[in-house]
Amino acid sequence: MIRTIGVPTETKDGERRIALDPSAVAMAVSAGFEVRLQHDGGLGAGFSNADYLRVGAKIVPTAGDVWESDLVCKVKEPQPAEWQYFREGLRLFAYLHLAAEPELTRALMSYGVEAFAFETLSYPRGLPLLAPMSEVAGRAAAVMGAFHLADQSGTLLGGAAGVLPARVVVVGMGVAGTMAARGARGMDAEVTGVDIDLARLYELHQQGTITASLASSEFAIGEVVAQADLVIGAALVPGAKAPKLITREHVASMKPGSVVVDLAIDQGGCIETSRPTSLSNPVFIDEGVVHYCVTNVPGQYPRTSSRALSAAVAPRLLDLARDPSSERLNGALNVSKGNIVHKAVADSLSF
Ligand SMILES: NC(=O)c1ccc[n+]([C@@H]2O[C@H](COP(=O)([O-])OP(=O)(O)OC[C@H]3O[C@@H](n4cnc5c(N)ncnc54)[C@H](O)[C@@H]3O)[C@@H](O)[C@H]2O)c1
Repeated sequence: MIRTIGVPTETKDGERRIALDPSAVAMAVSAGFEVRLQHDGGLGAGFSNADYLRVGAKIVPTAGDVWESDLVCKVKEPQPAEWQYFREGLRLFAYLHLAAEPELTRALMSYGVEAFAFETLSYPRGLPLLAPMSEVAGRAAAVMGAFHLADQSGTLLGGAAGVLPARVVVVGMGVAGTMAARGARGMDAEVTGVDIDLARLYELHQQGTITASLASSEFAIGEVVAQADLVIGAALVPGAKAPKLITREHVASMKPGSVVVDLAIDQGGCIETSRPTSLSNPVFIDEGVVHYCVTNVPGQYPRTSSRALSAAVAPRLLDLARDPSSERLNGALNVSKGNIVHKAVADSLSF
C-alpha cells in the first residue's frame, strides 16, 4: 500500500523542472498521502519550500530521504547517481525513454523496480503525459532553430522585402512537430510538414499551420531536406526507438551553416547524424550542419513546463498510488518484476 510519495530535485544537466507544483501536491495531500519534497527542489521552477509547506508537503533534506518513499515521481529518467536508491517494489513514475536507455533498463530490471513511464501512458487516447512537454519542446525547437540559423548562416527565417523566406522542414507532425511548425510559421518561414498520416497533413495544410505537405519516404525527405535551411525531427512510434528518417547523406546535402533540431533524440533520434546534447552544451557541427539535440528541451522553461506537466500528471499519480492496474494507466508500465512488459520497448531493446 502506498502511503508516501517522494519528489526529488532533478539532477540531469541544466534541468530545473519539478514533477509536482504546489497545486499538485495539495491534491495528493488532500487525498491522504504524505508528500516528501527534497529541500529547495522547486526553486528552479520558482516554487519555494514555503510554497510547498503551505499545501502540506513535508520538506526533507536529502535525495536519499525522498527515495525512501513508497512511490517516487520525478521528471527525467533517473541518472546513474540515482540508481543506488532503486529497490525491489519501488514504484517509479517519470519520463523513462527506455528504448534509448539500455543501461537504465537493466538497472530497473535487476533491482525489481515497478517502472511506469509518462511517455507511453495512452489513456484515453494519444499520449496525454507526453503531450504537454512536446508542446513546449516544439515551440522551443522553432526558437532554437531560428537562433542557431542566424548564428551560423546569418539567415532570418522570415526573409525580407525582395528576399525569400527560409525553408523549414518538420518531419513528424504530431504535437511537437505541429508546435514547431506554428512557431516557424509565426516567424514567416515557409514550412513543409512531413508525416505518414495524410489526414493529419491535410488538416494542418488547410489550417495554414504548414505551407506544404509531403508523404514521408526516404526519397521524398531527401529532396526537401537538400533545399532546407532548418530541419526539425519529431517523428515518434510510441515506446519504440525513433525511426532513422533523415540519413547522413540527407544532412550532407544541406547548405553549410544550416541547422537540424532532433527532438526525437530522447527516443534515440530520427536523424542519423544526431547524438544527445545537453542544455549547457546544446550543439555540435557534423557535415557542416549545426545539430541541436538536447534531450530535455522543456527544462529551459521550468516554470511553464512544471505547471503544464503537474496538471497532466497529478490525477494519474493518484491513480497509480491507489491502483497500479487501473485502466487510466494503460500503456504506462514498462518494467515489472524484472521484466520489460511494454512490447515496443522490449522490441527496441531485444535483450
Ligand atoms: N527533446 C526533448 O526535450 C523532447 C521533449 C518533448 C518531446 N520530445 C520527443 O518528440 C517526439 C515527438 O513527440 P510527440 O508528442 O509530438 O509525438 P506524437 O505521437 O504526437 O507525434 C509523432 C508523429 O510522428 C509521426 N510519424 C511516425 N512515423 C513517421 C514516419 N516514418 N515519418 C514521418 N512521420 C512519422 C506520427 O504519424 C505522428 O504524427 C518524441 O520522440 C518525444 O519524446 C522530445
